[in-house]
Amino acid sequence: MKIELEDNKIYFENKGLKKEIHPFWLRERVNGEEFLDKGTQQRLFDPTHLDNNILINKAIITKKFLEINFNDGVNLKLEIERLAQEFSNEDNTIKSIKKIKWDSSLKKFKNFNYENNFFESKKLHDLLISFYQFGFVIIKNVPTEDNFIVKFANSIGSVRRTNFGEYFDVKSKPAPNDLAYTSLHLSPHTDNPYRNPVPCIQLLHCIQNEVSGGHSTLVDGFTVTEDLKIENPDLYKILTEVKVKFKFIDKEVVLEDWSELIKLNDDKTFKQVRFSPRLDYVPVLDKEKLDMYYRARKKLSEMYNSEKYRIEFRLEPKDLLMMDNYRSLHGRTSFDTNEGDRFLQGCYIDYDSTEGKLKHLKRKLNL
Ligand SMILES: [Fe+2]
Repeated sequence: MKIELEDNKIYFENKGLKKEIHPFWLRERVNGEEFLDKGTQQRLFDPTHLDNNILINKAIITKKFLEINFNDGVNLKLEIERLAQEFSNEDNTIKSIKKIKWDSSLKKFKNFNYENNFFESKKLHDLLISFYQFGFVIIKNVPTEDNFIVKFANSIGSVRRTNFGEYFDVKSKPAPNDLAYTSLHLSPHTDNPYRNPVPCIQLLHCIQNEVSGGHSTLVDGFTVTEDLKIENPDLYKILTEVKVKFKFIDKEVVLEDWSELIKLNDDKTFKQVRFSPRLDYVPVLDKEKLDMYYRARKKLSEMYNSEKYRIEFRLEPKDLLMMDNYRSLHGRTSFDTNEGDRFLQGCYIDYDSTEGKLKHLKRKLNL
């Protein structure tokens, strides 16, 4: 990659491809004290108020810097390296972390220990990388007092409040508004599929666990759907195309959102799964298409519920499970309330929290 100067025009050359850099694009990047606040790196001027006809009067390229004098009298001195960084336009912080497929053979996964200064540590950096690799992570030794879950969430980013509140208590209770608040077995599902946007990450903190059942279960939606794509491409395809309605009703709210069960990015790679077969409503389609759709949904459900893909483990008090609600499906085995108490607290955060924290730690720790 190279920055070149020719007849007062700046060129960017990469892999034999040479393109002129628009003078206005460069003018927007003036960084002198009167143009850029050093602390926030925010502009002190509004580029939409500038004359569009910005030209370069004079430019010099040295080893490290590009210096320009524009026709409105303003000067720019920009580090070539920073300019080059901007040209590798893509934000690779998360994309560069390769997702690791896993199934029930995943016996040993790395746990992390909560400790002092955890939120500014290399350990949290490594934890976040592991989270993006596997779609979940377990943190041990997290204090259980004073709704610490909220403090934990807000120390990574910000709690995403839902109609279940800032955080929610998971214990069996009379007249529950969700099956989570019973002692019943819960098959693998994703949370809040009826929300727009769906909360990205769920935190679940074990406060008390005196029962022998109530094990947590996890399934990797990425592994399952990638396998389905190979084993049965037609069924996979229809699940990536048909949008179904997810619906949740409570006394004070009706929440609805439409989505495919397997949502893809523009480049057809995995983006998100939603699965909650008690809450989805399939649209009216041609009978043949619905035949196919119901077959596909059944197949997907069989895979999500199969032992081949499920890991099962017991959460002990002070364990905090952090799971990607766009990738992991979670559930639990049933338990007997006569054996004692089982009490978990949960809340949600969004991807901007984990991404923001990861970028901050990389910057701070020079990683
Ligand atoms: Fe859930």
